[in-house]
Amino acid sequence: MQEQSQWIRESLTSFPQPPNRTNHNAFYGPIDDLFNAVKEKKVLLEEESSIGSLDLGASSCTSNEDAHRWKFYEEDIATLRGKTCKSVKAGVLLRKLRWCTLGLQFDWSKRNYNVSLPHKKIPDALCQLAKRLAAPAMPIGEEFQPEAAIVNYFGLGDTLGGHLDDMEADWSKPIVSMSLGCKAIFLLGGKSREDPPLAMFLRSGDAVLMAGEARECFHGVPRIFTDRENAEIASLDLQFSHEDDPFFLEYIRNSRININIRQVF
Ligand code: OGA
Ligand code: MN
Repeated sequence: MQEQSQWIRESLTSFPQPPNRTNHNAFYGPIDDLFNAVKEKKVLLEEESSIGSLDLGASSCTSNEDAHRWKFYEEDIATLRGKTCKSVKAGVLLRKLRWCTLGLQFDWSKRNYNVSLPHKKIPDALCQLAKRLAAPAMPIGEEFQPEAAIVNYFGLGDTLGGHLDDMEADWSKPIVSMSLGCKAIFLLGGKSREDPPLAMFLRSGDAVLMAGEARECFHGVPRIFTDRENAEIASLDLQFSHEDDPFFLEYIRNSRININIRQVF
């Protein structure tokens, strides 16, 4: 339980830090310290960029990714400047955080791993845990090499459509999938999209190994439960109640986090 709360903390603080990418990168560029900004009620503002549009002309029409044009400001400054430039509250950005990538960065637009993107290694503690969890599904004498992870964040109403994880070179290696926070329905289908799926609950602390036959099967998450009765996070909840930090609690009562760890090569 304590370990679960630790992974939740990391998923909200260190995992989304650049150079790791999130779904917000494409629009805002890299965002530093999102969770702190939420605590401090900060607002992300778009810099008025005369440089970009005027001085450099057409050649500056790169994507926002490289521009670093969005920065966090205190609420009162943002109120003043918010009238003339685009703004978004940190709390809104956290609610709309859908994924981040650890280790080798997965490029969602091309649906492949982009080895040329800057990246850090997967944190050691997460590597050790993944190796331990993967062991029963590994070929004898081989050790799982966690090279990439996708962290999925689900709020009420968020889903993960039926898909196959087929961009990893060697399907004899399992995918290690950890569930944290609110309970979800997980659908495990067959090798064809037409095969009827099997439904199961995934609760906080559950680990799924996508291995063997299941490694090649369609799967998805059609819903999560955030109501007290169905979320089943009462004991996890206690982990955060001792804390002076209500932000984690508020987040996890309404969310599910999935850490999905892969060996890519
Ligand atoms: C994935 C995945 C399942 C889950 O990230 O590829 O299948 O339980 N996640 O969220
Ligand atoms: Mn998957």
